[in-house]
Amino acid sequence: MREWTNDETVGLGSRDVDIRDADQVRVVVEKARPDWIVLAAAYTNVDDCESHPDLAFSVNRDGTVNVAKAARQTGAKLLFLSSDYVFDGKKTSPYETDDARNPQSVYGRSKAEAEIRLCEALPDCCVARTSWLFGMGGKCFPDTILKLAASRPALDVVNDQRGCPTYSVDLARAIIKLCRSGARGIVHTTNSGDCSWFEFAREIIKGAGLAAEVRPVSSQQMARPAPRPAYSVLSAKSLREYEIVMPTWQDALHRYLLERKN
Ligand SMILES: NC(=O)c1ccc[n+]([C@@H]2O[C@H](COP(=O)([O-])OP(=O)(O)OC[C@H]3O[C@@H](n4cnc5c(N)ncnc54)[C@H](OP(=O)(O)O)[C@@H]3O)[C@@H](O)[C@H]2O)c1
Repeated sequence: MREWTNDETVGLGSRDVDIRDADQVRVVVEKARPDWIVLAAAYTNVDDCESHPDLAFSVNRDGTVNVAKAARQTGAKLLFLSSDYVFDGKKTSPYETDDARNPQSVYGRSKAEAEIRLCEALPDCCVARTSWLFGMGGKCFPDTILKLAASRPALDVVNDQRGCPTYSVDLARAIIKLCRSGARGIVHTTNSGDCSWFEFAREIIKGAGLAAEVRPVSSQQMARPAPRPAYSVLSAKSLREYEIVMPTWQDALHRYLLERKN
């Protein structure tokens, strides 16, 4: 909302509309009559999704279909935020937009099914897949690492999952460009470069000038309810078609650390 200037924008949160309720969605969309809807709402707790699959599918898949139907009824275009977790992580080179989905977790399945149902209901929609988001105004990996590093001499961080950290400000700017270009289809929208969570944590600690030691561990050592893809780097080829170049994740992290200080 902060980044999108020079156009009229309406920000809606979960207190304004529950996307699981088709009537509520229709009413707010009919009232706002937008040219574009950016659908970022989701049940995003990847581990909790494993024990609450009904909630995951009702918000992430069925809620998305409700928004798609309201968009179709009012003639709005729709950009849907999806996830690298729609992939199984077995590749060793960046995922292209037409690589097969094979989600390993409930969250990943709910987003993958949302993509499929959305493209059936609204073939002109845009699916912007992103990954490893961080930014101000909520819990995120760098924030957690910085808080832990303030009270612990050493941190264990997984070194066998690779992805693309993405700064919410850069994602927002890319989303705005995509909407203004009339984007359709799947677009991989992440900061450039890739790393493991361990490498990301090391850069966070270094950037913040902290002394905590970061130690690499395996996913097995840090077992969590939801399986994560070992490799979910997304190719920037689809972004280049819209002449969008995202900054590196290191540059993005540097700006996040500055934003955090102010
Ligand atoms: N975080 C990541 O690393 C990541 C990676 C790839 C893709 N994504 C996708 O990017 C988008 C944004 O992610 P995020 O991490 O910023 O998510 P987030 O911080 O969890 O925010 C999600 C928002 O959705 C709202 N919401 C949840 N259930 C809803 C419902 N039934 N009706 C209306 N609103 C509802 C939440 O409201 P409450 O807070 O009131 O519940 C919250 O404001 C999501 O679509 C996510 O799947 C995220």
